Amino acid sequence: MSDVLRFIDDNLGRFRSELYDFLRIPSISAKAEHDGDTRAAAEWFSARAEEAGLEATIHDTPGHPIVVAEWRDAGPEAPTVLIYGHYDVQPPEPLELWTSPPFEPTERDGRIYARGSADDKGQLYMHVKALEAHFATGSTLPINVVVLAEGEEEVGSPNLVPFVEEHAELLSCDVVLISDTGMYAEGLPSLLFSLRGLAYFEIHVHGAVSDLHSGEYGGAVTNPGNAISQIIASLHDAEGRVAIPGFYDEVVDWDVETRRQIAELPHSDEAFARELGVAALTGEDGYSTLERLWIRPTCDVCGILCGYTGEGAKTVLPNHAMAKISFRLVPDQNPDHVRALLEAHVEAIKPNGVTVEVRELHGGRPWKASLLGPIFEAAADALEEAFGTKPVPMGGGGSIPIVVEFEERLDATALLVGFSLPGCNLHAPDEWLPIDNYEKGIGALAMLYEKLGTA
Ligand code: BES
Ligand code: MN
Ligand code: MN
Repeated sequence: MSDVLRFIDDNLGRFRSELYDFLRIPSISAKAEHDGDTRAAAEWFSARAEEAGLEATIHDTPGHPIVVAEWRDAGPEAPTVLIYGHYDVQPPEPLELWTSPPFEPTERDGRIYARGSADDKGQLYMHVKALEAHFATGSTLPINVVVLAEGEEEVGSPNLVPFVEEHAELLSCDVVLISDTGMYAEGLPSLLFSLRGLAYFEIHVHGAVSDLHSGEYGGAVTNPGNAISQIIASLHDAEGRVAIPGFYDEVVDWDVETRRQIAELPHSDEAFARELGVAALTGEDGYSTLERLWIRPTCDVCGILCGYTGEGAKTVLPNHAMAKISFRLVPDQNPDHVRALLEAHVEAIKPNGVTVEVRELHGGRPWKASLLGPIFEAAADALEEAFGTKPVPMGGGGSIPIVVEFEERLDATALLVGFSLPGCNLHAPDEWLPIDNYEKGIGALAMLYEKLGTA
């Protein structure tokens, strides 16, 4: 075993307890009342990066700070790897569904339970520890490293593209390495070949000047509740396709080889449905479950607000209704184009007597990788050495909108190597990360840095 791996092995207990300090900070980017905590998480991370041997700077933005930590001793001829992750987390509610409190990290059944354990503080911190292992043992790391940790990923990274534009030289790199996704299954490491894009909107329907008595006025005016239901019902056809005209125009067929690899992955629809507690799996006709999740676009209602929802009956016609609608996108769809299509569709089908407004929440383009060439080979080798199994290719149903922006603006290759698992409860109560993945993952990353030196 190399000195680096021995150092990791000898320090695993400390690596866990440090992570728990990070996880105790409620850095909820969506809530202004936690702005102080979010900054505290940036400061904590910056200080730990310095202790590990990097040179860290906290950059203020109009929102939450961005931490950049550098180590450039490999010299100008060596490749540079930009490691990206986020120190912000999703709100923990509903609190009563957590077995242990979200910001009191707790070990149970070989898992670290806490908000942010998997998404993404745990995975981000693995990189700091893998780097520390190199610096502490005097290993000659063959790559320059820039770690970028942002605090707004969970709210759509509104300040990151401007930051990348302004600091293109500081962030200039050959590879962007990200651990903010998962492995296909326990013990089965994975390389990600795609992420879906996102286009997220609020649709508002406005009716009369105020709420109305539903007996006195019902039947004579359009009820915004009925209208938004009509709009929502028009978004899909009977084959499970999105029924907005033009929605599939920019969708390109996925390559046959990747579809073959997807079909080869161990998967059971029955087990998947059982795990989720649903009687059946549904979706776009003609595609398997994994294809529906990874390589096909979707449209989903994420929330509806309308009318009287309190106790008992209130006979009322609401004068306003709102629905939150998200689209997951695949190459070559574009959130701006989807917005235009949605607006045109809603205008065309909306009933008379109400006005409809589409507001954009956030968006990002999809990302696709070839998984070919020395960078991905380096990752495959490092994962195989750490986990004892060759990694499988997998897609990502979720979105990390900055990935394409990094690739295009920095002219670099994105490499996504994640360590959470399906069922880790990202964004949900009882989020967890396997301790085994935290520990083996640190070793995998340490080896990966070495291999990227010659990739
Ligand atoms: N880490 C996730 C993205 C993810 C999770 C990708 C699992 C693939 C598999 C990220 O933190 C996230 O939650 N992204 C948001 C989008 C963002 C703009 C709020 C998402 O996918 O909903
Ligand atoms: Mn994340
Ligand atoms: Mn997330």
